[in-house]
Amino acid sequence: MSEKNVSHTKWMKRAIFLASLGKNTTSPNPKVGAVILDKNGNLISEGFHFKAGMPHAEAMAFNNLKKDARGGTIYVNLEPCCHQGRTPPCVDQIISSGISKVYISIQDPDKRVSGKGIEFLKAAGIKVHLGLCEKESLELNKTFIHRIITNNSYGVLKWAMSIDGRIALKNGESKWITNEESRSLVHSLRAEFDAIIIGGNTLRKDSPLLTTRGFKTPEPLRVVFTKTLDLPQESIFWDCNTAKTMVVYDASSANEEYLDRIPKCVEVEKLSSDNPKLLSKLLAKRGCNKVLWECGPLLATEAIKSGCIQEIKAFIAPKILGGENTMNPIGDFGFREMHEIIKLSDSQISLIDSDLCVSGSLKINFQK
Ligand SMILES: NC(=O)c1ccc[n+]([C@@H]2O[C@H](COP(=O)([O-])OP(=O)(O)OC[C@H]3O[C@@H](n4cnc5c(N)ncnc54)[C@H](OP(=O)(O)O)[C@@H]3O)[C@@H](O)[C@H]2O)c1
Ligand SMILES: [Zn+2]
Repeated sequence: MSEKNVSHTKWMKRAIFLASLGKNTTSPNPKVGAVILDKNGNLISEGFHFKAGMPHAEAMAFNNLKKDARGGTIYVNLEPCCHQGRTPPCVDQIISSGISKVYISIQDPDKRVSGKGIEFLKAAGIKVHLGLCEKESLELNKTFIHRIITNNSYGVLKWAMSIDGRIALKNGESKWITNEESRSLVHSLRAEFDAIIIGGNTLRKDSPLLTTRGFKTPEPLRVVFTKTLDLPQESIFWDCNTAKTMVVYDASSANEEYLDRIPKCVEVEKLSSDNPKLLSKLLAKRGCNKVLWECGPLLATEAIKSGCIQEIKAFIAPKILGGENTMNPIGDFGFREMHEIIKLSDSQISLIDSDLCVSGSLKINFQK
């Protein structure tokens, strides 16, 4: 790589780093960072997008600008917008600043804008370079890209189990399998998500809080997915002061008389079936880029089968629960031969005191 390319990469990596500062706050928007150099290659401003409705990264960099940007260069990890949203189009600001070169890592995946921002810049005589640090930028915004392209939320399935693969005792008791450090890690992990999903049975058995314990304000949306609507009347889960709470039910099987039991502060949505894909789409429509499935085996298996899960995180504790017919994290897929089984890619293993966390990506498609 030439010296020049090394420095272009350095500045794009800086833009990506700035973008990452919006990690838990930009959703439904993407994470974007911008770096501006003057015509001599000196850094004169930078910015990042913090939250929907607040300035885009490029606008923040222009707001911070103290020197003349004419003849300069801007580095952004996502194609600048060219449409009037809640904030003015960034390409207009770039053009009027007199900047002569724009380095863009990846195009905006939204078909309505994809490539148009670049065309606007080129039409104004600006040199546009696309593709620098593409891999890093795709990774950084993979949940946003997934939602825009598939109209589904990017799903992560998490469970906690013993070394003998159990997630609860026969009576449903499961608190606590993993150690305190793992549980605290899960609280901070939840802050990366827009919504956290459980099934009705987990609500009945565990009455979980499902919060980040202060790692994120406001807390992620809590969602219970139910086929029956036979949910407990009393639960800490119903305290909407703790977090926004939502019940999503299958109207084809639920007893709607139970709706009266649900506190008024809880949002209720109905779907036409119990297919978890409909829930994923519903949440995507609400702008949830990334959702955490913390459900038991019945719902988890259906969520995997319907393509709602893109990543798995299994916390494994050095404990033995034992027992016959005790609960495993996942149910039956009907595999009969080893070549059919699900293999995770990009798998990682970390140690959390005496527990293990095994994670990886799922690239499967059960749906024909
Ligand atoms: N260790 C762990 O990581 C962990 C995590 C979660 C749960 N658990 C344990 O798992 C047990 C509950 O397991 P579970 O499998 O019954 O979990 P679940 O998370 O309650 O999921 C099953 C429930 O989801 C609802 N549901 C909606 N659509 C569905 C669909 N298409 N397929 C299946 N269910 C659908 C149903 O609720 P309705 O019955 O209301 O209709 C169903 O009973 C509890 O004992 C809990 O302690 C352990
Ligand atoms: Zn913009």
